[in-house]
Amino acid sequence: SETDLEHEFDATIAREQRIEPRDWMPEGYRATLIRQIAQHAHSEIIGMQPEGNWLTRAPSLRRKAILMAKVQDEAGHGLYLYSAAETLGADRAELTRRLIAGTQKYSSIFNYPTLTYADVGVIGWLVDGAAICNQVPLCRSSFGPYARAMIRICKEESFHQRQGYELLMTMMRGTDEQRAMVQESVDRWWWPSLMMFGPPDADSPNTARSMAWRVKRNTNDELRQRFVDMTVPQAQALGVTLPDPDLAWNAEREAYDFGVPDWAEFGAVLKGNGPCNVERITNRRTAHEEGAWVREAAVAFAARERKEPTQ
Ligand code: ACO
Repeated sequence: SETDLEHEFDATIAREQRIEPRDWMPEGYRATLIRQIAQHAHSEIIGMQPEGNWLTRAPSLRRKAILMAKVQDEAGHGLYLYSAAETLGADRAELTRRLIAGTQKYSSIFNYPTLTYADVGVIGWLVDGAAICNQVPLCRSSFGPYARAMIRICKEESFHQRQGYELLMTMMRGTDEQRAMVQESVDRWWWPSLMMFGPPDADSPNTARSMAWRVKRNTNDELRQRFVDMTVPQAQALGVTLPDPDLAWNAEREAYDFGVPDWAEFGAVLKGNGPCNVERITNRRTAHEEGAWVREAAVAFAARERKEPTQ
């Protein structure tokens, strides 16, 4: 009966075992996973744009090769994650339609512009650093395909984070202009990076349910704190200042106190009114439309192969 199935589901989660696509699951569990995984996949795909912006203007062949590899990794992560969503019965084409129609979200962070080459380094250091902080615990998410996808994705994100930090280290050893360029970039990206973790726990409608289901393993505020604590010493080693006058070590809590992000700005970005929302979605829609002939050809080819199997 439904009750037995629900007991079995709860017991599997309580034993720290994985729920697999063939297993019974509550509809709410399926829906929240499709929502989170689709948003995550869309973020990887849209996230190719801000850095892709610098591919043709990378300062050396080496930097260009690294950046190209990184942007391609993001595409791979997106495809992995769409596949994970498909195991829940979601249709990939439908998810893309919803992204383009603006009815499914992607990370707020990718609605900010990349104005200088230092942004490539800062995205690697702060944005990918925040992504790792958020995603390492998701390797223990209760849904098997999502948790397993996270393992490889986190390994690749660690490479991304290091390439960003190494790029910034190189610039910080350079000229005064280069150091100023890094600082200016950190000033722009710091607060949006903190917003990546989502609204404060008190304003997060999904956290309690997702924690109980072990879809999420930590709350938004826990991970934001972890990110700040991990990043402050890295900023010191780099020689940059994080733009927060309230940032201070709290010996009692053994953690850094920090200021409050501008949640009104976050809300505006989520509503589609960030600096680059329109540009990002327009580019995605154009790419989708221009790729229609490739999809049609692939479907026609697959149909022909089925009819005329090769010897
Ligand atoms: N950008 C855009 N939307 C966000 C963000 C953000 N930074 N943070 C929260 N939201 C959305 C949520 O999706 C939710 O929207 P919905 O209910 O309309 O679908 C709403 O704001 C309320 O937030 P929460 O209740 O806190 O939502 P949730 O429990 O899903 O937590 C979080 C949000 C932490 C982002 C979670 O979904 C998660 O861990 N996702 C996986 C990681 C991910 O998506 N990373 C993408 C960026 S990293 C990268 O690609 C490099």
